[in-house]
Amino acid sequence: MKPIRIGLLGCGTVGGGVVKLLRRHAAMLSARLGTRLELAGVADRSLTPDRALGLTSDLITRDAAALVARPDIDVVVELFGGIEPARSLILKAFETGKDVVTANKALLSQHGDRIFKAAARRGRFIGLEASVGGGVPIIRTLREALVGDRQRAVYGIVNGTCNYILSTMAESGADFADVLAHAQRSGLAEADPTLDIDGHDAAHKLSLLVTLAFGVLLKPNQVHTEGISRITLQDIAYAREFGFTVKLLAIAKNEDGTIEARVHPTMVPSRHPLASVSGAYNAIYIQGEALGSTMYLGLGAGEMPTATAVVADIVEIARMRLAGATEASDHALGYPYSALKAARIKPMERVACQYYLRFMAEDKPGVLGRIASVLGRYRISIASMIQQERAPQVPVVMRTHEAREHDLMVALTEIRRRKFVTAAPVFIRIEEQL
Ligand SMILES: NC(=O)c1ccc[n+]([C@@H]2O[C@H](COP(=O)([O-])OP(=O)(O)OC[C@H]3O[C@@H](n4cnc5c(N)ncnc54)[C@H](OP(=O)(O)O)[C@@H]3O)[C@@H](O)[C@H]2O)c1
Repeated sequence: MKPIRIGLLGCGTVGGGVVKLLRRHAAMLSARLGTRLELAGVADRSLTPDRALGLTSDLITRDAAALVARPDIDVVVELFGGIEPARSLILKAFETGKDVVTANKALLSQHGDRIFKAAARRGRFIGLEASVGGGVPIIRTLREALVGDRQRAVYGIVNGTCNYILSTMAESGADFADVLAHAQRSGLAEADPTLDIDGHDAAHKLSLLVTLAFGVLLKPNQVHTEGISRITLQDIAYAREFGFTVKLLAIAKNEDGTIEARVHPTMVPSRHPLASVSGAYNAIYIQGEALGSTMYLGLGAGEMPTATAVVADIVEIARMRLAGATEASDHALGYPYSALKAARIKPMERVACQYYLRFMAEDKPGVLGRIASVLGRYRISIASMIQQERAPQVPVVMRTHEAREHDLMVALTEIRRRKFVTAAPVFIRIEEQL
C-alpha cells in the first residue's frame, strides 16, 4: 500500500519528539497500519541535518508554505505554535486536501471557529489530541470512550508548570518566587511564564474541554481566570490544617445547559485523588451521569509524551485515508461543528462554593465578632476557624459554608475598609464536593 506522507511544521521540542517516535516505532506503526508513515518534509527556520534522526538536507526546508502546498503530502503536522503563520498554513493545508494535526491550544481555542469550519467545508480532519493534557489521551477519551454518557463536570489539573510550582511549595516549603526560578532553570517553566502562571494556558485548554464534554462553544476570555502568583506558603499551611491541598484547577460544570467555567487556585480535599497529582503531572477528573467519576493522569507536556499524542492523531488520519475515505467525518470536537452553539454561561457572581478566608487584623477584643458580623450580613457563615497565638497583628483564618461569590466580594470589600484590618483579605475557593 502507498505510504502516508507527513509534512512537519516545526522541529522543536514536540516536533523533534515526533521525528524520533516515527523513526523508533516505524516497524510497529507499519504493522499496525499495514503501510508506512513517511516523513516527507520538515519546515523549520533553524533546523540543520541530523543523521541520528534521519533528517537529511533534502527533507529540510525554510519554506513552510511550499511544503504545505506539495501534492504528495497527506497530513500536515503543525508544531510551530503561536497564531501566525500557523493559522494560515493550516487553512492552506485544508484547501489543498490535507488533513492536519496540531498541538496548538492557543490557536484552536481563540481562532478555532475559522479552522474547524474550514476543515468541515473541505471534508478534512483536524487532530488535536496533544493540545490538552500533553500525553494524557483526554480528547479521544471524551470524544470516543465517553461518547455514550452525558458529562456533568470536568476538573482539570492541566498546567504542569503551575502544578509543579504549587506541589513543590507544599513539599519543600520554598516560596513561589524561588520555586518559579528553579523551574525556569530546569526547563519546567518558560523564560516568560506569564501564560502559564496567570492561568491563561489552562483557560485555553478548558475552553476545548468544555466543547468536548458539553457540546457548546466557549472562548477562553469567557472563562473566569486567576493565576497562582498570590498563593503563599502560609495559605498552603493553613489549607493543610483544614485538610485541603491547593491546586490550580480548571473547572467546568453543566447545570441543565448553563455552563460554569473557571480557572483559579482551588482547595481540594487532601484525600481526593486530584490532591495527590504532583510535579509536572496533569490529571482530568470527569463526572459523568451514567459512568460516575473517572480520572485520567499522565505527563501533560514534554517531548515524548506530547509526541505520542501527535502520532496517535497521525495514525487515526492514516486509518481513515487507508479505508478509502475521500472525506473525513466532522467529529474532531465530538460533534459536527455546525451543531455546536455558543455556551450559555453562568456569571461568576452567581457561582456558589465554600471559601477559605484569611484576614490580617490588629489583636483587639471583638475583632473576630466584627468580621463575623459583616460576613453574616451577607449570608456567609463560618464553618471552622484556626486560632492564633497572640501578637500585635494576627491572621484570622476561617472556612465558610457555601456562599455566593457576589456576596463574598461585597463582604470582603466592606471588611477591608475597617481600621482593624491591616491588609487585603485573602480568599481561596474550596471544592469540597468533588
Ligand atoms: N512543549 C510541550 O511540552 C508542549 C505540550 C503540549 C503542546 N505543545 C504545543 O506544541 C506546539 C509546539 O511547541 P514546542 O514546545 O515544540 O515549541 P518549540 O520547541 O518552540 O518548537 C517550535 C519550532 O518551530 C520553529 N518555528 C516556529 N515558528 C516558525 C516559523 N514561522 N517558521 C519556521 N520555523 C518556525 C521554531 O524555531 P525557533 O526555535 O527558531 O523559533 C522551533 O524549532 C505549540 O503549539 C505548543 O503550545 C507543546
